[in-house]
Amino acid sequence: MSAETGSTEPSENAAVSDLLASFLSETDSLCTAAKTAIAAASDGSMLEKARIEFLGARSGRLKAMTQLLSGLTAVDRPAGGKQFNEAKATITALFSAARERIAAAQTKDGLAVVDAIDVTLPGERVRIGHVHPLTQTIRRVQEIMSRLGFESVDGPEVEDQWHNFEALAIGAEHPARDPLDNFYLAVAQGTEPLLLRSQTSTVQIRVMEKRRPPLRIVSLGRVYRPDTADATHYPMFHQVEGLLIEPGTTMAHLKSVLHFFASSFLGGDVRVRFRPSFFPFTEPSVEVDMEWDGRWIEMGGAGMVDPAVLESVGYDPDAVSGFAFGLGVERIAARRYGVADIRDFYRNDVRFLEQF
Ligand code: DAH
Repeated sequence: MSAETGSTEPSENAAVSDLLASFLSETDSLCTAAKTAIAAASDGSMLEKARIEFLGARSGRLKAMTQLLSGLTAVDRPAGGKQFNEAKATITALFSAARERIAAAQTKDGLAVVDAIDVTLPGERVRIGHVHPLTQTIRRVQEIMSRLGFESVDGPEVEDQWHNFEALAIGAEHPARDPLDNFYLAVAQGTEPLLLRSQTSTVQIRVMEKRRPPLRIVSLGRVYRPDTADATHYPMFHQVEGLLIEPGTTMAHLKSVLHFFASSFLGGDVRVRFRPSFFPFTEPSVEVDMEWDGRWIEMGGAGMVDPAVLESVGYDPDAVSGFAFGLGVERIAARRYGVADIRDFYRNDVRFLEQF
């Protein structure tokens, strides 16, 4: 017999007992009935009902057949048993196939439901983020300076001593090079010391080494110093570096550029004030103050690029001159947005950041 159809091949032995004959035909019709029921099952519960009817362990119809099987004579039992086993295998296989068919159809239906958009339901609110206030400040500074022809450039945050100190005329004995005031990196013995840059003035050197005057650049980025964090200090902060190298440059040009910057950034006519100071890489050097709501705020340092610096990058100090300035980004951002504690810029508390 074929397991597919459950049909019985004509027996070579014509003398099939009546009992066996009825067992075989009953097995056949059971197979046919199971096939019909399984094919008709269109969902899981219909299929489960059919499973219990035919394959149920206690009162399933196949189970009932085993009783008939044991009623056969010892001669008939092998033929009956063979047929019974084949019928059971056929029905079990049909069930597995039907189960897969129904599962596949359900997945398809499930997707169909998800795909259908009920336009009457309230939408899901999308939380739209925005640019961090420090990045906003950096972009604004870049934009304002670009109007004066200053190109925005980047430099590396890991620096060597030449770019962070020596080329800027900060000699070996200068306290600014103290390991306690810098983040020196652990490097292999005998190799050149490296550090996280402590100022963006490094970028002045990097640009001048590669280009010839005239130059107008700004560079905004992170700098690192081992300061204890408080309302106005943090071991990492940002600076704006500006450099202009052009024949005939004077302190008056420096002041008008900073005045233009301060007025554009804050709005209105902002007063800028210079106080004499000292930086190894500028001569003369000044501290730059800006008047903010009737108060003078120190914004950074500036000056005329020292001839020694021009020489260190291979420029002729008799032929070119220029100015440089360095301002604190957190400082101008904190002023502009009324932030009392610069640590708030780094905490990434959405309730703070959302306000800008
Ligand atoms: N690099 C200085 C600092 O970090 C700031 C500075 C002062 C930058 C004078 C300059 C400058 O370009 O001319 O304190």
